[in-house]
Amino acid sequence: MSKLIDSPAWKALAAHRERIAPSNLGAFFAADPSRAKTFSLETGEILLDYSKHLIDAQAMRLLAALAAQAQLPHWIAKMFAGDRINSTEERAALHVALRSRDAVFPEGRDVMAQVRQARERLRGFAGEAQGGALKGASGRAITDVVNIGIGGSDLGPRMVTRALRAFRKPVPRLHFVSNIDPGDLDATLDGLAPETTFFIVASKTFTTAETLENARRARTWLVTALGEKADLSRHFAAVTANIAGAAALGVAQERVFPMWDWVGGRYSVWSAVGLAVALAVGMDAFEELLEGAHAMDVHFRTEPIERNIPAVLALLEIWYVNFFGAQTRAVIPYCEDLRDLPAYLQQLEMESNGKRIDREGKEVDYDTAPIVWGATGTPSQHSFHQLLHQGTRLVPVDFIIARASNPSSAQTALAANALAQAAALAFGNPAPGAAYRTLPGNRPSSTIVLKRLAPRGLGQLIAMYEHKVFVEGVIWNVNTFDQWGVEHGKTLARTLTPLMLESEHPADLDSSTLSLLARLRKHD
Ligand code: F6P
Repeated sequence: MSKLIDSPAWKALAAHRERIAPSNLGAFFAADPSRAKTFSLETGEILLDYSKHLIDAQAMRLLAALAAQAQLPHWIAKMFAGDRINSTEERAALHVALRSRDAVFPEGRDVMAQVRQARERLRGFAGEAQGGALKGASGRAITDVVNIGIGGSDLGPRMVTRALRAFRKPVPRLHFVSNIDPGDLDATLDGLAPETTFFIVASKTFTTAETLENARRARTWLVTALGEKADLSRHFAAVTANIAGAAALGVAQERVFPMWDWVGGRYSVWSAVGLAVALAVGMDAFEELLEGAHAMDVHFRTEPIERNIPAVLALLEIWYVNFFGAQTRAVIPYCEDLRDLPAYLQQLEMESNGKRIDREGKEVDYDTAPIVWGATGTPSQHSFHQLLHQGTRLVPVDFIIARASNPSSAQTALAANALAQAAALAFGNPAPGAAYRTLPGNRPSSTIVLKRLAPRGLGQLIAMYEHKVFVEGVIWNVNTFDQWGVEHGKTLARTLTPLMLESEHPADLDSSTLSLLARLRKHD
């Protein structure tokens, strides 16, 4: 049995879960008229109402004790000190430096000079592009920028650019391509003019097959239209830690923006990987996003566990995953501009904590990250909410609402729908006489209200989830910052790619892969 399962804090939680099992959310609310206030937290632009969770004050105390037992404050201090907490890669996880306001940070291994320099370069480049001074090979001003990247080099800038749609500058227009399927790039380039199109190739390693293939195809598209002699370096920038890789693709040195080994891909939207965001909304708005994230960093570092929003969210996740057997969590933004948030959080949460080996190298005997999924409300109500209300599984939900300052009737209805869904899940509907109509209720959700969908609040929201994931990793005792599980698939794909074209195959391939290879090779 692991130390965690055998620990006093874990055992106390297991016993408490049994104690509160007979109760339900209706009874909790009836017993305490100020429950919503008791179980709400607010900081900056964010309000978290977690009163519709299957908890009482004692559950929260015991969960906080679990975090204390895991030495959470010590781990937070280690992350902010730049310690190499990504132990399997011997790296720091210093994404917080990217939004730090300190002149020197962290003490002893200051990275702020590099961070400030990169930010100034982003500002210069964004100003050029927005002012029409960024010109292609033919001398015409760039109107469209395509970000080619995948995973953390795509999901963050894509999600933020869409979320900040209301803050967009007139030029350039931003597009995102990640899939190695040519359909992705082709559909994006349809209707774009090569003369006025620019590509950002974002890849920390510059070895990622999908990104390199798409960058090569983009180059071919430009050559076909502009000719071999055109100066294609005027159509490319790169964001990478691999300067040589970018140079090999023909990216001019002054158009290579830095990445560092102390920033993980899924934590990199605050770095030059956010170039697409800066181009779309301007550097001032990008810096406000950073400010928002910094405000959440301060909250996370200074608030006690029970009042610490990321910690509370993490503890609630652990409560359901480890004491109620929840397999998944749904993220449902009631906000079309946050439509890419579920996909962003899938990488952040599942690539970070989808682990089964602990920090000591032992296999864990408890569940770790749940499956994160979701889509925007209200379309999701007409799709999967049936299962949330009446299905057999417990699926905690994050409802995310962005307040509109002067709401239209549609925006009012949108927010009302979010509240209606959270209430229907929590309190159900007895519908006497017809079991098939009954909603049992007692289904938990958080409601996260953003005072406004603007750079600052968005920065807080993203950093809130980053720190939530970190707290979970500390308690589950896994390394949140590596991703070894994805490597083997990449190697296999590299081996299989040339075999797709050959008729003779090595005997050591399994019969299923062999027969599928044969089938995919046939053109009949
Ligand atoms: O395959 C997983 C991964 O390594 C992610 O962690 C990362 O965000 C993504 O690939 C892209 O990597 P890169 O930025 O090096 O192209």
